[in-house]
Amino acid sequence: MRHSLPPLPQGFTHRSDLAQAATPRLLKQRPIHRWFYFPHSYSPELVEAILDEWRLQSGSLVVDPFVGAGTTLLVAKERGYDAFGLDISPLAVLVSNVKVTDYDIAAIRAALSRVLKTLQSSKEHPGKCSPRVARALTEAEYLIFWRLRQAILKFDEPIRGFMLLALLGILPRFSRAVADGGWFRWVENPEQAPLILPAFRAQIQWMLEEIEQLNVTNNQRGRFGYAEAISYDARNMHLLPHTFDGLITSPPYPNRHDYSRIFQIELLALGYDEDSIFQLRHNSLRSHVEARPPKTAPSRYQIPRTLQACLENMPKDIDPRIPKMLKGYFEDMYSVLWSARQRMKQRAKLALVVGNVRYEGVLVPIDEILAEVGEMVGLDWLGTWLIRVRGNSAQQMGKYRRIPARESVVFFSFPDS
Ligand SMILES: C[S@@+](CC[C@H](N)C(=O)[O-])C[C@H]1O[C@@H](n2cnc3c(N)ncnc32)[C@H](O)[C@@H]1O
Repeated sequence: MRHSLPPLPQGFTHRSDLAQAATPRLLKQRPIHRWFYFPHSYSPELVEAILDEWRLQSGSLVVDPFVGAGTTLLVAKERGYDAFGLDISPLAVLVSNVKVTDYDIAAIRAALSRVLKTLQSSKEHPGKCSPRVARALTEAEYLIFWRLRQAILKFDEPIRGFMLLALLGILPRFSRAVADGGWFRWVENPEQAPLILPAFRAQIQWMLEEIEQLNVTNNQRGRFGYAEAISYDARNMHLLPHTFDGLITSPPYPNRHDYSRIFQIELLALGYDEDSIFQLRHNSLRSHVEARPPKTAPSRYQIPRTLQACLENMPKDIDPRIPKMLKGYFEDMYSVLWSARQRMKQRAKLALVVGNVRYEGVLVPIDEILAEVGEMVGLDWLGTWLIRVRGNSAQQMGKYRRIPARESVVFFSFPDS
């Protein structure tokens, strides 16, 4: 049966060839990229397609202000560009930096032997752990994870980060708290303490093999770029010294998913306390209902017309936190795009990977509204790729009929003078 493609708004192009690249599916096949990723990460193929389109000059700087799993940075580096990432979450910063660092493999092997030796004789005991960690790991499991972390923290970077990521990489095999799509659920697991050290050793071994494999390929391909990520709020990019040639990113979608909750166990395992995780939740972009407005609002922002129309179509008895979140989300995205514009070079380009959302049967076309917001800050909207369409749940379909939601890449450039 042949399906006709849905009609698109003006300026949109079908790119269903990239549908899989909008998900982490292909990422799982790529060395280093697969060390750690988020439920909504895109695959390297999407960044590669955008860079193919742009053909930036060699030596260009590519930025990703919502760096997440670091995919943009690693692809840019592999292509010989320098790359710079920002993220409000220390987990994303750690993951990204570990993936883009060059390592001394022998030094890591020696460090692993030292860590395992220290653990044999360690009598150290952790203090009281957070109730969430106590629910996720048994006492015996937590003791080993804690001692491993203590031993790893004795090393300097980059060995410390590399080993911490290996530790986080095995955590889901033991934890009873599982990231499930955009949410979080509890599962039952038997006691597995004796398996932690062998799993850690095997994880390090596997990561080292991936580096060795990539080094062989890379030796055949010329210069690599330099890449780095820092903890930073994307709404304040204008205060950074860098000017960039390309920006490729996927901001959080306003779908209520809260990364500080999904990855709470990982953040606690890294040593962040409940208070700093609350801070993270409150300071993140307003894509979920617990995020708070920044201290100062942008002065020239106005609610985009398309958003206003969506808000007017929503039922009167809608949870009042939803319209509030949507208004806050676009105000924040205005700040992100405004601040990015201050740091763009003359011919610089932007690509935002975004997904539309639905609330109470009303579709909110994030891709169209962001094109409006971009123009509000003085960027030229170049067009949008439609990469995939997601259906609504069976339950919602029964209530509201089928409302397909697009996932798109919205392109902008610095305005032609
Ligand atoms: C959709 S994820 C990015 C996914 C990424 N493109 C990938 O493929 O892994 C969004 C990221 O935005 C980060 N974030 C949320 N609010 C932020 C802010 N105000 N500034 C910078 N990063 C923020 C979250 O911590 C999360 O890592």
